[in-house]
Amino acid sequence: MIAAVLRDTADGEHRVALIPASVPGLAKLRLDIVVETGAGVAAGFPDAAYVEKGARIAASRAEALASADIVLSVRPLRGVTQGLSARHTIVGFLDPLALPKPIETFAAGGGTAFALELLPRTTRAQAMDVLSSSATIVGYKAVLLAAGALPRMFPMMMTAGGTLTPARAFVIGGGVAGLQAIATARKLGAVVQAYDVRPAVKEQVESLGGKFVELPMEAGDAQDAGGYAKAMDESFLRRQREMMAKVIAGCDVVISTAAVPGKKAPILITAEMVDAMPPGSVIVDVAAEQGGNCEITQPGRNVVRNGVTVMGPVNLAASVPYHASQMYAKNVANFLALLVKDGALEVDIADDIVRETLVTRGGEVVHAKVREALGLPAAVLA
Ligand code: NAI
Repeated sequence: MIAAVLRDTADGEHRVALIPASVPGLAKLRLDIVVETGAGVAAGFPDAAYVEKGARIAASRAEALASADIVLSVRPLRGVTQGLSARHTIVGFLDPLALPKPIETFAAGGGTAFALELLPRTTRAQAMDVLSSSATIVGYKAVLLAAGALPRMFPMMMTAGGTLTPARAFVIGGGVAGLQAIATARKLGAVVQAYDVRPAVKEQVESLGGKFVELPMEAGDAQDAGGYAKAMDESFLRRQREMMAKVIAGCDVVISTAAVPGKKAPILITAEMVDAMPPGSVIVDVAAEQGGNCEITQPGRNVVRNGVTVMGPVNLAASVPYHASQMYAKNVANFLALLVKDGALEVDIADDIVRETLVTRGGEVVHAKVREALGLPAAVLA
């Protein structure tokens, strides 16, 4: 079996799906690796490094695809999809719930697709969890963006020029990105507060040296069986905004990460709340790609309003391409070890990891949630 590593061509994408160090492990599965020339260059992995580990370089995308059974890229359905066909099994970030149309088109061509965002959040799937890998980077990088834009420093300092007070940061949402943001802001010396609708997060925030903000309101059953937050209703969100307004007005930095899978991000910071922040404050809204937690966020742009900078970064993980690729490659290699048995593809839908990530097969979109997103009837091929 041959797996081709394509050069990601989506805007701003600098990651690569496999790094040279992944190649020998995959050879043990009897999987040969073909790399489209230049695929790893933007992430710091030149062609020669792949060759050294036993991969072959293809001079073009068409040449890489011609012999491939499995197609690996970070975002295989963004950029050039030409040349993908029924013989190909694609694995990557497919954005299946927000952008289901390209998946439907790929399905119609007869190919098989696995969307890694749909991996169950179980202990067994942890080694393949691409969402956690990228969220770790997002949380870290969001704090660095805030630190770069803030006209103050993060740590408290006692200097010859007097004592400088530490930055006050508020992290909204304590999932993987939020917890990493708390840890990073603490390491830089900020005083950190955080809030999440899931009660389990309080202990995690405190273990990182943050202060959990208790809002005197009942979040009730805020967590679903998969560990994700449920979408809260508008009256809850209105009260949440009212109660967070005072905390936000007293902060220099807000990192907002609140999200609910497959849904638009909840609006938690209104324009009025932005206006109440001290001039020079910074909001980094990493939920920008899902619409943003701040009313005035513009995805991919920085907006300055009354002296407050609101940043809406997208695809932040790609801005640290070396380590992002290293983690993604490890996750993908672990996923391939489930799919490839003795040099052959084995799609065992009795395995929950395989079943929950499989989105197209046999000419059909087979994943219930993706079918729902496309308005297709529930009946699917097994
Ligand atoms: P996410 O990116 O879907 O959401 C970020 C955070 O926003 C979540 O903590 C969520 O509770 C919070 N949120 C949603 N609405 C909010 C609101 N109105 N106000 C404040 N916060 C709000 O979350 P992520 O990082 O993907 O984690 C989701 C769950 O998956 C967590 O329980 C996490 O522990 C679990 N997980 C499990 C793994 C495993 O077992 N393999 C791996 C990674 C995460």
